[in-house]
Amino acid sequence: MANRLERLTVGLGDRAYPIWIGHGVLDRLGEALQAVDFPRQVAIVTSPTIAGYYGEIVLQTLVDAGFSVSTIVIPDGEEHKNFVTLQKILDALINQGFDRSSGLLALGGGVIGDMVGFAAAIYLRGIAFAQVPTTLLAQVDSSVGGKTAVNHPLGKNLIGAFYQPRHVHIDVATLATLPTREFAAGMAEVIKYGVICDQEFFLDLAEQREGLRQQDPESLIRTVKRSCQIKANVVEIDEKESSFRAILNFGHTFGHAVESLAGYGTYRHGEAVAIGMVVAAELSRRLELCSLQDVADIRELLVSFDLPVDPPAYAIADYIEAMQRDKKVKEGVLRLVLNRGIGDCLFQEVPQLDLLLTETLKAGISRG
Ligand code: NAD
Ligand code: GLY
Repeated sequence: MANRLERLTVGLGDRAYPIWIGHGVLDRLGEALQAVDFPRQVAIVTSPTIAGYYGEIVLQTLVDAGFSVSTIVIPDGEEHKNFVTLQKILDALINQGFDRSSGLLALGGGVIGDMVGFAAAIYLRGIAFAQVPTTLLAQVDSSVGGKTAVNHPLGKNLIGAFYQPRHVHIDVATLATLPTREFAAGMAEVIKYGVICDQEFFLDLAEQREGLRQQDPESLIRTVKRSCQIKANVVEIDEKESSFRAILNFGHTFGHAVESLAGYGTYRHGEAVAIGMVVAAELSRRLELCSLQDVADIRELLVSFDLPVDPPAYAIADYIEAMQRDKKVKEGVLRLVLNRGIGDCLFQEVPQLDLLLTETLKAGISRG
């Protein structure tokens, strides 16, 4: 198993980049970076938690491969994904004399990856960076596709850039230390890919459920690889989200409403998305885009990975207002991503959303 290494490519012309996926990738990271000619001066940017688990291994493999390495440790958590932390990264790079031929390594979850990517995008007008994601969510979603950002007090991810990494190195062995709730949150995004793009993958997830829950390396590699492939395909078609890339927001409009009404931090993002996906599926059923059985199957798969699926009890008007605040509203009409059966999706305007949502939430979501 230690030697199995899968490779995908995100095909973006002269900015195309590889994604490596394996078990034990961190042990050979120095070699891998050497083989692709990564800058010789590297800063590993990570958090205290992740540094505690993986900082030493990564530092050692880079030093062994002849890199000049420093480590920048930034505080953990969404509440630190801001200008203050960004400035800390930039200060360290300036103080340590990093020039345009140096590179950054984002070692951590989506928070670290988004911030390091943004720092790389703006430092000296852009330097190389590589993603080394350590949460399931970062491995299947945020490390691929080049969205980088920090939060603003008035909203999440408001300040950022599209800036692609040079490569992505995914070590599924790092998931062994991930809290189970974080693992489940990542599974919500994995299941999303099956619902919107790939029915076979959706069915495969149900079959591999035990292997995934036990973190069988083979199941993890297969699942992360297919997820990254789907995300890469979407990004290749619409890198800057002019339209098509927004299919990745399936379940997110209602999910964001849940996150904001409950207060950020109450639900993990993936948990809120799980609830949002069941609501989106139920809306799709009411619009005759999918069957009662499809809704039940989506719900059951999410539950089998310990994800919440029932919307918390807020007033419909509050849900509607929170959904209207989401970025997808154009001229007062909400365009939602809805599933057509399982494995396909479409954008649809939902003019009488309040009525439909009222029916959906009052009736309770179908259980098949
Ligand atoms: P996170 O980065 O906050 O990580 C979650 C927690 O897990 C943290 O406490 C972290 O220290 C810990 N952790 C990380 N790896 C670990 C490991 N291997 N072992 C033990 N603990 C570990 O959360 P996340 O869910 O990875 O990322 C969420 C962020 O990703 C949000 O800011 C969101 O906006 C962003 N995001 C970006 C994109 C994108 O396309 N760029 C897509 C989705 C989400
Ligand atoms: N996570 C959504 C996107 O990358 O577009």
